[in-house]
Amino acid sequence: MDAKTAQKQAAAKFAVGLVAFDRIVGIGSGSTVAEFIKRLAPLAANIPGVVVASSASERIALEAGLRVWSLNDALASDVAPKFYFDGADEIEPGFAMIKGGGAALTREKIVASACETFVCLVDESKLVSALGKFALPVEVVPMAEAFVTRELQRLGGSPKKREAPLTDNGNIIIDVSGLFPINPRALEEEVNQIPGVLSNGIFARRRADQLIIAGANVRHEYAPVSAW
Ligand code: A5P
Repeated sequence: MDAKTAQKQAAAKFAVGLVAFDRIVGIGSGSTVAEFIKRLAPLAANIPGVVVASSASERIALEAGLRVWSLNDALASDVAPKFYFDGADEIEPGFAMIKGGGAALTREKIVASACETFVCLVDESKLVSALGKFALPVEVVPMAEAFVTRELQRLGGSPKKREAPLTDNGNIIIDVSGLFPINPRALEEEVNQIPGVLSNGIFARRRADQLIIAGANVRHEYAPVSAW
């Protein structure tokens, strides 16, 4: 097993210790949370279930024997999710992130925003001093591809359509490099203003509240009070 996989597993193992047994567990998508979901399997009988942000995570959760709730049902229940666990492609010192490497950014942002506490799980390669090395994923309605591409170029970016199947929402992903450095919250809002953009992978308005970093050992940190 390579070091990065071992670190993802260590972060996932630590995160399981934070699970509130009396509430549905909010879960994102990607290889790190896949490790987390597998480690929830022994707790299947002790927790009400999970709400997940992608069809990939749903499949892993069902295989693990977990009850999968829709977000609508979960929020209407008396065991609504409080904690949301997810990975990131980059996270900076103010706990803003770039996400969406796995194309699940929109549902991740919805579920994360519906939960009180976002716990981000990363191997140490995801820590950056400023966002922007990872191209920004933008989920776009297919008929708006040419227009949104032009608008992203106008913002100074270099957009590239991702060659991948459509997202769980039936849309395309455009990866944009060259938009940073800029205040992540301002850029998140600006990209969202382009008609045809469903959402973008900057998580600044809904940054992480807690961070589990696995390197030589596992660290658990809380978001700084003030950021950008
Ligand atoms: C999915 O769309 C992403 O936001 C993932 O959370 C992110 O790409 C991290 O994925 P890994 O855990 O696979 O690195």
